[in-house]
Amino acid sequence: MKNWDEFLAPYKQAVEELKVKLKGMRKQFEQDACHSPIEFVTGRVKPCASILDKANQKGISLDKLDTEMQDIAGLRMMCQFVDDIKMVVELLRNRNDFEIVEERDYISHKKVSGYRSYHVVIRYPVQTIKGEKKILVEIQIRTLAMNFWATIEHSLNYKYKGQFPEDIQMRLQRAAEAAFRLDEEMSLIRGEIQEAQAFFTRNKESQHE
Ligand code: GTP
Ligand code: MG
Repeated sequence: MKNWDEFLAPYKQAVEELKVKLKGMRKQFEQDACHSPIEFVTGRVKPCASILDKANQKGISLDKLDTEMQDIAGLRMMCQFVDDIKMVVELLRNRNDFEIVEERDYISHKKVSGYRSYHVVIRYPVQTIKGEKKILVEIQIRTLAMNFWATIEHSLNYKYKGQFPEDIQMRLQRAAEAAFRLDEEMSLIRGEIQEAQAFFTRNKESQHE
């Protein structure tokens, strides 16, 4: 019913471009030899089957996908520390190559599942041979610990289709709490960690001299 390749082409282009741009931010911090609030960046275009599943679940009609499904194009920015997330969001707000349309703070307000992350939805202009096309892109910003939990929970969700057995449910809750405490502990020794990392980077550089 839909020409998927044609529909998804600008989304693919946006993900590729944004991966370069957001990874570029990390590179700039490295060049300045200061702590990068960005550890690594990933991106994906939602597979066709998942788009259809979600549209079905949420009652989104297929001709409204471009306005009503915000995460067809998705980027993730992973940070070492919770405080880095604010800095990354501020960096995104200050950019001129896209417009922020929505922010969702699941860090101050974690989900009942235990999920934590900061979501920024942007409207990103893609240049095509038929002119400019603006598309929605969801950027999830989270710590490594938040990402670990979300990745595991996502695979279990897939396996149990959201209906977790009680013991798994409980373990996931406890794992979410442990991830939260890990982030807190790391924040407390942040200065120490960064000193060590700066030392390590300097050593690596001197080996190339
Ligand atoms: P979705 O239908 O999931 O997009 O919900 P939404 O439109 O209300 O947006 P929301 O900000 O809640 O979630 C967007 C994305 O965040 C999801 O597609 C997931 O990638 C991620 N996410 C949200 N909640 C959870 C959760 O409980 N567990 C995991 N693993 N990921 C989540
Ligand atoms: Mg969503």
